Amino acid sequence: AAGWPGVIAAYPARVAVPAGAGIVTLHEGGTPLLPAPHLSELTGTSVYLKVEGVNPTGSFKDRGMTVAITHALASGSKAVICASTGNTSASAAAYAARAGLTCAVLVPSGKIALGKMAQAVAHGARILQVAGNFDDCLELARKTEAEHPVTLVNSVNPVRIEGQKTAAFEICDVLGRTPDIHCLPVGNAGNITAYWKGYQEYADDGLVRGTPRMFGFQAAGAAPMVHGQPVANPETIATAIRVGSPASWQGAERARAESGGRFDAVTDERILSAYRLLAAREGVFVEPASAASVAGLLLSSEEGRLDPGSVVVCTVTGHGLKDPGTALEGAVDVEPLPVDANAVAAALELR
Ligand code: F0G
Repeated sequence: AAGWPGVIAAYPARVAVPAGAGIVTLHEGGTPLLPAPHLSELTGTSVYLKVEGVNPTGSFKDRGMTVAITHALASGSKAVICASTGNTSASAAAYAARAGLTCAVLVPSGKIALGKMAQAVAHGARILQVAGNFDDCLELARKTEAEHPVTLVNSVNPVRIEGQKTAAFEICDVLGRTPDIHCLPVGNAGNITAYWKGYQEYADDGLVRGTPRMFGFQAAGAAPMVHGQPVANPETIATAIRVGSPASWQGAERARAESGGRFDAVTDERILSAYRLLAAREGVFVEPASAASVAGLLLSSEEGRLDPGSVVVCTVTGHGLKDPGTALEGAVDVEPLPVDANAVAAALELR
């Protein structure tokens, strides 16, 4: 009665939590599946955007974090830890704050977007900047969990995947069918693993017929799944997916193989052009990593891989406000105008 209740309460038979657990939720999920008319026209398909930036902390991570923090609290844990390129840490910090748990985050120094850092600070996380990349941070977080009384809330914790799979349920529920193709950015590879699990569950239980082909897109400088081997020094402007050795490699590879899907690399130039197109033509402001799914959609279209008229969903994973620095790059500082309507008209070149 109070609106969307969060993903655990929305799918109680499909997302398991310990009996009697107090559910820690910020009413995540229930995000828009937005038709994208411009992209549809460009590609000759019906494109929908699953807009995950409208989640409580601005990314899809909240779907898994409600489950992870609910489990951590129920098990009597007092502290949680994660490694992150920024969004997992923002989400962990918020849900831990809500639950009254201590939250420690390990992030690659200088490589996380400003908005994400602001969130971790605001929610009172213990922020440890590491002189290494995300892969180094994850290794450190795993070692810390193994030796100390803290719960790891990265997607190597399987309950995170259970929460994140609900996005696939929502898409099928809204479309009344399964999409033909699903495009996702791939970093640590938990999300593509989760979507594939969700689509398979719905198909196995007869709620929809069939499953989509899963198309995963990585930044060209951080594309281990495309190359078939880890990347030692991943680099991309899309810092959220600057990952060289994905923890959910096997799950992602299974999603590709079982769905008849593929992995492709998209250059930073293509990511930025999709980023600008989404904002300027669809009215949807996402962070750069999120635009990798749409860059991949456009690449797939150019290369003739999309059947005309097919239904394609692109997940846009995080909000544009996460990374104001990228948005403002190249914007010029101008002198303020006098308080004068003629000056406004002149500045806008109106006559
Ligand atoms: N898009 C965004 C905005 C992300 O933050 C991430 C992952 C991905 C896509 C890729 O998802 O890792 O499941 O393949 N961010 C992680 C983090 C690594 O620490 O926030 P994935």
